[in-house]
Amino acid sequence: MMNKNAPIGVFDSGVGGLTVVREIMRQLPNEKIVYFGDTARVPYGSKSKETVTRYSSQIVRFLLSQEVKTIVVACNTASAYALDEIEKEVNLPVIGVVKPGAAVAVQATSNGKIGVIATEGTIGSKIYSKYINEIDPSASVVGKACPLFVPLVEEGLWQDPVTDEIAKRYLTELIDIGIDTLILGCTHYPLIRSTLGRIMGEGVTLVNPAYETARELKELLEKENLLNDEEAKLGDNKYRFYVSDAAEKFKRFANSIIKYGILSAKTIKIEEY
Ligand code: DGL
Repeated sequence: MMNKNAPIGVFDSGVGGLTVVREIMRQLPNEKIVYFGDTARVPYGSKSKETVTRYSSQIVRFLLSQEVKTIVVACNTASAYALDEIEKEVNLPVIGVVKPGAAVAVQATSNGKIGVIATEGTIGSKIYSKYINEIDPSASVVGKACPLFVPLVEEGLWQDPVTDEIAKRYLTELIDIGIDTLILGCTHYPLIRSTLGRIMGEGVTLVNPAYETARELKELLEKENLLNDEEAKLGDNKYRFYVSDAAEKFKRFANSIIKYGILSAKTIKIEEY
């Protein structure tokens, strides 16, 4: 039987998944987390489905070696490309960020025009349209790849005229189409939410899939009777962070996102899994 006091495994191509971890910490404060950020091989957004799937499978094997009780794919690109494969490979509950984000967007829209901003991979996969149209076939979904947002976020330019300028260029066509809901379909984008919100204007609802993912994760753990029933204390073992490169840089970035502070981040050789 599954150990309900085992950690939740979460992974991303790098630091972006920390916006999902932040939500899990808020909504499931008693849970332990093992996070893996593939900092050596980021970005996933411009890579092929085969490569992202292979990387994701290696990470899943690493997380299984940490005896996690469930896996959260906290990366839109990996959720778009590799979720089906991961579900086939493991015997644990697995949850991605795309489906929860699509479901909230359908609830949020009034005019049925939904915009999605994400990496080239996520937009090219049309995965958001697929899930949205499964729920509401009449909704129209317009995707826009915004590849410059990831480096801008990683450079810390969250509130900067350069980010404003680039966001205006990317978003103008979505504004012109008259969308009333915009999915932040990349885990980095919630960090520039205020810039995106200002440019889109008050009439547009911004959807952060991280929030809904954490909510669905909670429901899933309840349903499977997997909620942690021990009081997990804040310390090295409650939240563990692993990366494939540049642990110190990761730690600095992570500390600007997560209020608990990252106690340690270890580098592991992910190709060996
Ligand atoms: N984490 C990725 C995502 O949510 C963005 C960064 C990347 O391209 O790897 O799609």
